[in-house]
Amino acid sequence: MASFCSQNRVPKVSVFLFFSLVCFLLFSSSHVVLAQSSPVFACDVVSNPSLASFGFCNTSLGVSDRVVDLVKRLTLQEKILFLVNSAGSVSRLGIPKYEWWSEALHGVSYVGPGTHFSSVVPGATSFPQVILTAASFNTSLFVAIGKVVSTEARAMYNVGLAGLTFWSPNINIFRDPRWGRGQETPGEDPLLSSKYGSGYVKGLQQRDDGNPDGLKVAACCKHYTAYDLDNWKGVDRYHFNAVVTKQDMDDTFQPPFKSCVVDGNVASVMCSYNKVNGIPTCADPDLLSGVIRGEWKLNGYIVTDCDSIDVFYNSQHYTKTPEEAAAKAILAGLDLNCGSFLGKHTEAAVTAGLVNESAIDRAVSNNFATLMRLGFFDGDPSKQLYGKLGPKDVCTAENQELAREAARQGIVLLKNTAGSLPLSPTAIKNLAVIGPNANVTKTMIGNYEGTPCKYTTPLQGLAALVATTYLPGCSNVACSTAQVDDAKKIAAAADATVLVMGADLSIEAESRDRVDILLPGQQQLLITAVANASTGPVIPCYNVWGRHGCIICEN
Ligand SMILES: *[C@@H]1O[C@H](CO)[C@@H](O)[C@H](O)[C@H]1NC(C)=O
Ligand SMILES: *[C@@H]1O[C@H](CO)[C@@H](O)[C@H](O)[C@H]1NC(C)=O
Ligand SMILES: *[C@@H]1O[C@H](CO)[C@@H](O)[C@H](O)[C@H]1NC(C)=O
Ligand SMILES: *[C@@H]1O[C@H](CO)[C@@H](O)[C@H](O)[C@H]1NC(C)=O
Ligand SMILES: *[C@@H]1O[C@H](CO)[C@@H](O)[C@H](O)[C@H]1NC(C)=O
Repeated sequence: MASFCSQNRVPKVSVFLFFSLVCFLLFSSSHVVLAQSSPVFACDVVSNPSLASFGFCNTSLGVSDRVVDLVKRLTLQEKILFLVNSAGSVSRLGIPKYEWWSEALHGVSYVGPGTHFSSVVPGATSFPQVILTAASFNTSLFVAIGKVVSTEARAMYNVGLAGLTFWSPNINIFRDPRWGRGQETPGEDPLLSSKYGSGYVKGLQQRDDGNPDGLKVAACCKHYTAYDLDNWKGVDRYHFNAVVTKQDMDDTFQPPFKSCVVDGNVASVMCSYNKVNGIPTCADPDLLSGVIRGEWKLNGYIVTDCDSIDVFYNSQHYTKTPEEAAAKAILAGLDLNCGSFLGKHTEAAVTAGLVNESAIDRAVSNNFATLMRLGFFDGDPSKQLYGKLGPKDVCTAENQELAREAARQGIVLLKNTAGSLPLSPTAIKNLAVIGPNANVTKTMIGNYEGTPCKYTTPLQGLAALVATTYLPGCSNVACSTAQVDDAKKIAAAADATVLVMGADLSIEAESRDRVDILLPGQQQLLITAVANASTGPVIPCYNVWGRHGCIICEN
């Protein structure tokens, strides 16, 4: 770390996360807009009174009785419509199309076709990227964030902008800091990842009426399991075979998933693209039926990544025919396919005797039971517990304050020996703000993001408090050339210097692993030169998402 600073200065090390700068985020004037579209739901007995006679629409019956009633009314072809994320409709039974795929990694997200922003709800509260929030080690914070996200999700569902099933959180162990998706995860520690996963899931799912079987929204712990490679030196996740010992599975990779199911009572687990010890996870009966449903007693559905069955058939060549692939997945315990593979090949698999219709019944029953627990088959959502939520409940001042609070709690201060932080806005008259990430917006919200309520860049946040001189220092984070001389000049003239450095999704992302965790290009050179030339303290902040911090160099 000391190498950031010139030799004749004592490095004072302090850290705050780059994503903490989302603490400057998000104030939008509250908007009151009438709902322009309505939520999707089944059993609309008001519009169609004949539906009231169906047992599956009868809210006096238990979930399992209602599911049995529904499944027995469906043909095989109709059941198959409910094996895929873009589920079909059965109009004679009053069942509309439903899109299962929504995301809410750190706020309601537009990634996934089930959720959209519009003029009715233009943005949602954006919490810090998970790697930062987890660094708070505060389980009640994880729960509180989940509660806000599920409230905003329900509010968006009520105006037809979101689904009820969210494929978050990502609780894969961040075993290798070069993994491009590590930013999405709670980190490398199995215990913290377990606390994060079960806490966030409880916040998303638990209802305020204490109904233990009901769901506010349905969460999904992903990607099961031993997945921490996307695209590294010619090996991609669609071909990766994770070779894992039983001890490493039990000590490292499985605990977050176990806690998510056992402690969090999550409604879904997603299997991954990779193989574990030679078997694609979505085709492994031991990992799915055996462990998730058998040992951990999942109450919910198991879903593929998008589209893992296609991947293990076409890329991994795990089966000879697509019908065998469909049958293997369902027989392994898979219930829902993100993608279209099961929609295309399941009927032929049944006809060929590779899988019985009873296995299809099991799969769709798990899917229907989840929707029942969400109230999807209870008729008009506006008459239900969360039916009054709407656009006014999204991006509230209180929700945005929790996002700021999460940012504050996630800040990691390694060392601040001379007490240079916090900088005094009265003592510092002129602040130099340097770096390719100093005035960025979208970079700040990472991936699996939504549209935030509002953007405030680090520069804008600092400039609100003190006079600033700004220089990007590099044209982008790759920083092939640095404006060293100009940077030295403004650092020499300022009372203090903040450098906002690091990566963005062009450096590390889904499908983009790193080969090292160094600062890209000339960033290191720029920091060293500024530290040497400055008259006041220098605070380089960087968001190398695996490991991140600010180092103070003082005269
Ligand atoms: C709903 O189920 C309850 C309990 O079995 C039954 O008493 C009631 O008649 C049912 N309602 C309708 C509309 O069938
Ligand atoms: C954890 O977070 C909650 C919610 O923001 C907060 O009230 C509480 O004080 C935090 N706990 C600790 C130990 O910081
Ligand atoms: C289908 O059911 C029959 C009768 O129970 C059973 O003998 C057979 O093994 C089942 N086939 C598969 C592929 O599970
Ligand atoms: C900083 O970024 C904001 C938002 O993109 C932009 O409007 C503003 O002009 C930028 N400021 C400077 C000094 O470049
Ligand atoms: C630091 O600055 C001094 C004097 O300005 C210069 O001689 C020296 O080479 C610089 N060191 C580095 C590492 O830039």
